Amino acid sequence: MILPGSDPQAIDEAARRLAAGELVGIPTETVYGLAADAASDAAVARIFEAKGRPSDHPLIVHVTGVQAARHFARELPDVALRLMARFWPGPLTVILPRREGVGRAATGGQDSIGLRCPSHPVARALLAACERRPTPVLGLAAPSANRFGRVSPTTAAHVQSEFGAALLVLDGGACEVGIESAIVDCTRGAPVLLRPGVLTRDQIEAACGERVRLPHEAAQPAPRASGTLESHYAPRARVRLMDGASLRTALALVGADAPAIGVWARGPLHSRQRQIAWRVMPPDPADAARELFAVLREFDEQGVDLIWIETPPDSAEWAGVNDRLRRAAA
Ligand code: TXA
Ligand code: MG
Repeated sequence: MILPGSDPQAIDEAARRLAAGELVGIPTETVYGLAADAASDAAVARIFEAKGRPSDHPLIVHVTGVQAARHFARELPDVALRLMARFWPGPLTVILPRREGVGRAATGGQDSIGLRCPSHPVARALLAACERRPTPVLGLAAPSANRFGRVSPTTAAHVQSEFGAALLVLDGGACEVGIESAIVDCTRGAPVLLRPGVLTRDQIEAACGERVRLPHEAAQPAPRASGTLESHYAPRARVRLMDGASLRTALALVGADAPAIGVWARGPLHSRQRQIAWRVMPPDPADAARELFAVLREFDEQGVDLIWIETPPDSAEWAGVNDRLRRAAA
């Protein structure tokens, strides 16, 4: 059931269900999430079950702000406070030391916890309504609302197509950002960028006031985390990344008996073959991020066998998009 997220009654109903341990599909500015009360191990178990995700993979917990973050985090290192002050509410998750006794299931038993304060007005209204419950719900564990390993949802209809009509989904329109939040680990001394998002490493470093490492530069190994698995965000069709020249060569070789191909190219293309569906990738990385998962889904719905994507520039602004594309192609 999809309800308008702008309706206060829908928000109240969603908060009531969450407080009762049920799951709700929620919009955020990045992607839609499948939410449950982060303090309830039983409710969180339903997320893992619905997604088919291994239960030792940590989930991100969504909160109203720094105050609520203190409930879940044992301490807030200075670098984390700087990141929150600069980017919350917004598409940034910080990994912090977890407070003993809270959110154990949500973190897959790890002693750290990922916290994020989303900026989407519907998510914020819902989090506030959850805090106002007779028994306050102070955090919502919410991974992307897709089955494990599949493409993340950026509309309410995508969520419904993943989990069916029985799930309550709050409709907040198409997601503005389109790819998941950047994740910065603040538990390992120097900050580590575990997952790139639309915020660039430069922007994150400027806020931290210090160098931000990439996982392979960090002293300690990264924890288990599905966003960091090699193959992830995968549509049904096989995805291949190619530079512009290779793409044009490959297209020229497509014969009338070739399988159906979806092409996401950075400029207009020519092919005489009817089985080629193509879309133009926006020149701006933020626009491309917004469209990315929806384009993969559309190609899947059109039933293409192959998806060929022209590789974007290998620059900092494109890091988040390139990360998701590489995983979709892995
Ligand atoms: O934009 C987003 O972050 C979306 C929306 C719904 O907010 N959420 C999201 O959640 O992407 P999810 O569960 O699909 O991604 C969670 C990822 C894990 O796969 C892992 O990479 C990282 O967050 N993570 C969460 N908690 C962690 C922890 N304690 N230590 C290390 N990584 C963690
Ligand atoms: Mg995900």
